[in-house]
Amino acid sequence: MLLLVALGACGGAQSALDPGGPAAARIEGVWWVIFVGAALIFVAVAGLFTLAVVRGARRAAGAGPRSRPSPDGHAADPIRWILAGAAATVVVVAALFVYALGETAALDPRRESADIVVAVEGRRWWWDVAYLEGGDTIARTANEIHVPVGARVELRLTSADVIHSFWVPGLAGKMDMIPGRKNVTWLRADRPGTFRGQCAEYCGLQHARMAFLVIATPRSEYDAWLTRQRAEAPRPVGPDVSRGFDVFRAHCSLCHAVRGTPAVSRRGPDLTHLAGRRTLGAGTLANTPANLAGWVVDAQNVKPGSLMPPISLEPAQLHDLLAYLATLR
Ligand code: CUA
Repeated sequence: MLLLVALGACGGAQSALDPGGPAAARIEGVWWVIFVGAALIFVAVAGLFTLAVVRGARRAAGAGPRSRPSPDGHAADPIRWILAGAAATVVVVAALFVYALGETAALDPRRESADIVVAVEGRRWWWDVAYLEGGDTIARTANEIHVPVGARVELRLTSADVIHSFWVPGLAGKMDMIPGRKNVTWLRADRPGTFRGQCAEYCGLQHARMAFLVIATPRSEYDAWLTRQRAEAPRPVGPDVSRGFDVFRAHCSLCHAVRGTPAVSRRGPDLTHLAGRRTLGAGTLANTPANLAGWVVDAQNVKPGSLMPPISLEPAQLHDLLAYLATLR
């Protein structure tokens, strides 16, 4: 029954056993080969061990001979069994090694050219996501990577501070993000869906709240999304929104950029299209107005240690700021 509870984790948005693309499917294959192989070996070893215990107990009770003579009259040699066990282990581990090398080579990002190039930078504790075209950044977002179904996506991974690890179990294997280094990996989603990713290298206090989403949609939907992302933020219109923009400039623009405005800092996530994102704080909260208000006023309460300081605002200021942020679709 306990095993059944554990099996409940084998599906869903963040499972390596529920692959949504070829890279994850290959890794799942390796997982099954090793799991089934290890299970067979475990059963064989446990069976031999049980046999030895039963025989030993019988002998101790005087039911059998003390040592069974071999056909040539000598007692069975235990060294032979030890050597046979060692040889079997070497053969199995060597075969797995060669098999895994072949599968690793098949995952090499240089094997095929990419349809889309995305640069992802690990930050404490969020993900900066830039869409590249001919080496130029055409759109920037955070904690959300949209991809068209069937496209091969090259991921250029870097880190701005400490070592992180980029992992979307449903789509690809792990790849470390190391300061001063560019690592490249790739993924392809073969069905539409939302795949959850998670930092897989302990990187400090909020390592657990360093998640992101990969959202795979049909090509037309992706193109429409990218067109929106490329656009600058709309100009503030109306008294609330205009006052909210002033609050943003006074309190937020030191760290956050909104393209199309004088706010260009890249210390925190780019907020140009914040309102279109599904989560806040790298997967910590659903992106709702109430959560956003709580996050703005006291992010430390939600995500202690994050680099977002508490912002003290009058209720009217907060109302206006939320009105402005809501226009950033
Ligand atoms: Cu970033 Cu763990």
